Amino acid sequence: MSLDTIDVDLGTRSYQVRIGQGLLGQAAEHIAPLLHRKKVAVITDDTVAALHLMTLASALEARGITMTALTVPAGESSKGWAQLARATEWLLEQKIERRDVVVALGGGVVGDLIGFASAILRRGVRFVQIPTTLLAQVDSSVGGKTGINTPQGKNLVGAFHQPSLVLADIDVLGTLAPRDFLAGYGEVVKYGLLGDAAFYDWLETNAPTMAKGDAALRQYAVKRSVEMKAGIVSRDETEEGERALLNLGHTFCHALEKATGYGDRLLHGEGVAIGCALAFELSQRLGLCSQEAPSRVRAHLRAMGMKVDMADIQGDLPDAEALLALMGQDKKVVDGKLRFILARGIGEAFVASDVPSDVVLGVLRDALRGRG
Ligand code: GLY
Repeated sequence: MSLDTIDVDLGTRSYQVRIGQGLLGQAAEHIAPLLHRKKVAVITDDTVAALHLMTLASALEARGITMTALTVPAGESSKGWAQLARATEWLLEQKIERRDVVVALGGGVVGDLIGFASAILRRGVRFVQIPTTLLAQVDSSVGGKTGINTPQGKNLVGAFHQPSLVLADIDVLGTLAPRDFLAGYGEVVKYGLLGDAAFYDWLETNAPTMAKGDAALRQYAVKRSVEMKAGIVSRDETEEGERALLNLGHTFCHALEKATGYGDRLLHGEGVAIGCALAFELSQRLGLCSQEAPSRVRAHLRAMGMKVDMADIQGDLPDAEALLALMGQDKKVVDGKLRFILARGIGEAFVASDVPSDVVLGVLRDALRGRG
């Protein structure tokens, strides 16, 4: 199958996202043109290392590129000061210089952590993202948001630092657990919902087969998602306006993630899917979109075997008021007012400020009531 190349146009910081099968084994030929000397530092996590590090190491070695690697523990808890300090100090010990390239091999945690380490190491070194989850391929590896979590919240410390190249190997998605693949799909469906009704139609038809493993369908879904993200990031790199659309479903999602402890009860992409359904419900109650739209969103997520409603989250949840308060702590609050991404229909999202809190509370109360 062919290679898809998407340009992220950011002037002197422009780069390409290359999407295809077998890219990990061909990584050296993609990375070599970026190198001033034949040496790279790779940082990954222990799960990904066991699955994919050897393939990358062999590919680099075959091209005479020396690879040195550090493995951090898999999971969100690595996205903090401790592993940031460890990774940056390790990179210094490896004598990684300003002109060298760091490689982040892994999902969103590794990409965000190592992107940030690269941003601050020697005031900024280049890095290459090799995303190994669907979520990272379609969202977190593209656009230059890097950072870590602190006790005060997620992603509150970080930097915009664009990668120099993103290599999205469709084959590695085959090693994901079905739940992780579907969680990543929450971000894919978001792109159709926020700005491309035709892509959403395509997903309704093709996503069930794609989820079963069809590589051509997977590649198209990743390509179309990245095209959309690249366009938005090129127009609004630092989220002054349009980029906020990428947060469709995320205000609800962040409250649910906080309420469930950012753990196995609710994966980020699952929260995004539930959040998208709630954002459409809220839009419908505000008279912005038809009744059919939220029903269609729910029906598709349900057909994919995904979490759709709060009823699909195991265990207790706080009441509607407490969930609303959790939303109020979201870092995207401007001047104390909640901002939501709402929609006039499928593929027609927009940023709304000053959404009446009683309508939001009504949506949350009904969603919680649905939990029986
Ligand atoms: N994940 C949202 C963004 O990159 O803006």
